[in-house]
Amino acid sequence: VSDMLVDTHGRRHNYLRISLTERCNLRCKYCMPAEGVELTPGGQLLGDKEVMRLARLFVAEGVDKIRLTGGEPTIRSNIEDICLELSSLPGLKYLAMTTNGLVLARKLPRLRAAGLNQLNISLDSLVPAKFELLTRRRGHAKVLQAINTALELGFNPVKVNVVVMRGFNDDELVDFVELTRSKPINVRFIEFMPFDGNVWSSKKLVSYFEMLSSLREKYPSLSRLKDHPTDTAKNFQVDGFEGTVSFITSMTHSFCSGCNRLRLMADGNFKVCLFGPAEVSLRDAMRSGVDDEGLKQIIGDAVKRKKAAHAGMFDLAKTQNRPMIHIGVRVSSV
Ligand code: GTP
Ligand code: 5AD
Ligand code: SF4
Repeated sequence: VSDMLVDTHGRRHNYLRISLTERCNLRCKYCMPAEGVELTPGGQLLGDKEVMRLARLFVAEGVDKIRLTGGEPTIRSNIEDICLELSSLPGLKYLAMTTNGLVLARKLPRLRAAGLNQLNISLDSLVPAKFELLTRRRGHAKVLQAINTALELGFNPVKVNVVVMRGFNDDELVDFVELTRSKPINVRFIEFMPFDGNVWSSKKLVSYFEMLSSLREKYPSLSRLKDHPTDTAKNFQVDGFEGTVSFITSMTHSFCSGCNRLRLMADGNFKVCLFGPAEVSLRDAMRSGVDDEGLKQIIGDAVKRKKAAHAGMFDLAKTQNRPMIHIGVRVSSV
């Protein structure tokens, strides 16, 4: 392993997020406009061989965790084959996925068998009608079923991502915490972030401190667990509960100093920060015939351009950022 993935601030990047598609079978209001987002033509998206070539190279250079994102990664038709190939890369310890869970109840057993070993499922409301309002689609029961299937298959923990929005689901925090009472679920409350076309407003942001203090009224024993330095989440547990509760404080307490993430978008663009621009098109580099040494040079140069921290989060509300779905924060993407 060379220092290709070490930046000028000493951060070692061992975590690659790969967006496998820009498409999604939901239309979450915080993620995209009702009409969806403009999709990159198929020929300009990375093919399987290109994804594998890059993944192999990153893993050889020290990446030991790959998270598959989208859009919705399970939409990629050969997702099981991709998982199988990725999980057999020597050196890869964790193959993770962030998904809306819609088709998981059906696909998860095979994904698990193909080597998927970490799972984050997005679910922003426990009330079916609210789920439909937010996602503009049906499917609440399917997501709940997916969480159960994941538990049955032994994913531990099963992470449940909840983007908290004032006036929408801030009255459900306790109900979500109850999911952790007797199951190895990690409920993660995420501060709402601004992205293009997602009607963000600071009034809808419920801060980490606000969530924590309101939950402590109900659960005085909610106590902080030790976090890993590269963790985006601050982890807590209610005494005696089997699962855990976390807060992802992207807006109020950024965690750039411990960042170990890099991102490959579905169109082959390479990002060194969720909130920064695409640094370079690895697709174009590969299609112009660059060899592996050349690719390493290009990737290493981009990593060396990574800034110590992104601009203040609230500035983001004013500046342009691409819709989450293009970045693969889940949709990161984030
Ligand atoms: P783990 O590997 O389980 O820690 O996953 P994750 O939390 O990184 O990934 P997930 O796809 O579940 O994203 C959950 C939330 O994490 C997103 O909504 C973002 O708020 C946040 N997040 C993920 N990556 C980044 C990042 O690079 N920067 C920032 N600021 N937030 C991120
Ligand atoms: N703010 C915070 N989190 C978001 N996600 C999508 N859009 C936003 C946003 N505007 C979440 C998804 C998914 C994760 C990858 O990012 O719900 O769980
Ligand atoms: Fe919702 Fe994720 Fe699909 Fe965006 S990518 S619409 S957040 S399920």
